[in-house]
Formats: sequence, structure tokens, C-alpha cells
Amino acid sequence: MTLPTLTAAAVRLREFTLGDVDALHRVYGDPEATRHLSFEPRSRDQVAEIIEGILARRADVPRTEYALAIERPDTVEVVGMARLALGDYRSGQIGFALRPDQWRKGLGRQSVELLLRLAFDHLSLHRVWGASAPENRASCQLMLSVGMVEEGRIRDHLRVNGQWRDSVVHSILEEEWHRRCGHPSPSRSGTPQPAVE
Ligand SMILES: CC(C)(COP(=O)(O)OP(=O)(O)OC[C@H]1O[C@@H](n2cnc3c(N)ncnc32)[C@H](O)[C@@H]1OP(=O)(O)O)[C@@H](O)C(=O)NCCC(=O)NCCS
Repeated sequence: MTLPTLTAAAVRLREFTLGDVDALHRVYGDPEATRHLSFEPRSRDQVAEIIEGILARRADVPRTEYALAIERPDTVEVVGMARLALGDYRSGQIGFALRPDQWRKGLGRQSVELLLRLAFDHLSLHRVWGASAPENRASCQLMLSVGMVEEGRIRDHLRVNGQWRDSVVHSILEEEWHRRCGHPSPSRSGTPQPAVE
């Protein structure tokens, strides 16, 4: 599927290019932005490898990862990344990160809403979920603010810096998304709706 137009008032999601290494490094190389993530701040070379991996996986058929640049339309600047990874049973896991100087302006919320639009309106997923470090209040609050609900805690979900880390899981189901958007309710039969190009 060609990536649909994913634009909100203050952000748009687009495919990464090799020209985005420095911009993404300002996110993934930042200790504050990565404090609650599962990895240490990345070097510029590591970020270049990450983008190369994203570009390679984009060609997979079927595509199972949408790792997208968060761009501000007003400045045409990449300020973060938003990712949807497809799993079994029409599920998808989201992840997102913004440069710290862009926090608390609503960009995270708009980016996640665009990911949910991609997941439910274009890819016909049934369930979308995200996992946060329990102390990551910003991530948990952001997921609540887009209509996701807290499901519970995965104990010892990740191994980070030699320590086990729990995750708090939030999720949203397709009927909840469509109700929130005022769309007719989809069937619960498990039959995927046709993807909209
Ligand atoms: C998580 C993150 C993307 C939030 O982005 P943001 O643009 O600052 O969030 P928004 O301004 O859209 O705010 C969305 C909601 O979260 C709340 N929020 C944002 N930061 C918060 C914080 N530090 N503490 C509590 N609530 C917070 C906002 O008040 C808003 O809630 P509301 O709609 O109920 O008022 C950003 O903090 C970030 O990039 N963090 C580092 C990477 C990360 O932790 N990613 C998550 C991994 S799963």
C-alpha cells in the first residue's frame, strides 16, 4: 500500500529518507528523549543504520512496519518518529518519540492519532497497543488522551541496562476508534474490512 496522506494541524507523517539522519539523531541521541526507551542514546552512525534498516524493511511484502518521520508542516522540519509494527490477528504496536524542545505542544497526540488513522482506517487493524515504562507519565497520558485504555502491566517485559523493566500497556480496539470518530461500527466477526487506498 502506498502511504496515505497523514496530515494533522501541526504534524504530518511521511516516509523517512537518508537525509533525515541528523534530525532523527536529535531525538535518538538525546538522553532526555531516550530516558524511558529501551536503548541508550544512539550515535549518529547508529541512527544512520536505523534509517537504513527502516528503508530496507519498507520494501518487505507484505509490509509489517511503518516507521515514519514526524514533520512539522510549518517549518518542514523532522522533529520525531512514529512507528506502527503489525502483528498477528490484525494487531499493531505503536511507538513514538519527539525532540524534547517540541514536547507539550500537542504534536505527540496528533502524531499518535495519525498512526491510529493509518492502523484502523487504512490497514483495517482490529487492535492497537503501546507499552510504556511505568514512570513514563507523558507516554501513558498521551495514549489515554487519544482514547486508549490502560490494560495492565507486563512484568519484566524488557531488559534495559542490565535490569528487568515492567511495561504498562494501553490499547484501543477498532470499534472504540470508529465510535470516537463517529464512523459506523465495524463488524466483530473478525473479517477484515477492505483497505482504503
Ligand atoms: C511521549 C511524548 C511523545 C509526548 O509528546 P508531547 O507532544 O509532549 O505530548 P502532547 O503535548 O501531545 O500531550 C498529550 C497528552 O499527554 C500529556 N502530557 C505530555 N507530557 C506529559 C508529562 N510529562 N506528564 C504528564 N502528562 C503529560 C498532555 O498534557 C496531554 O494530555 P491531555 O490531552 O490529557 O491534556 C514525548 O514526551 C516524548 O517524545 N517522550 C520521549 C520518548 C517516549 O518516551 N516515547 C514513548 C515511548 S512508548
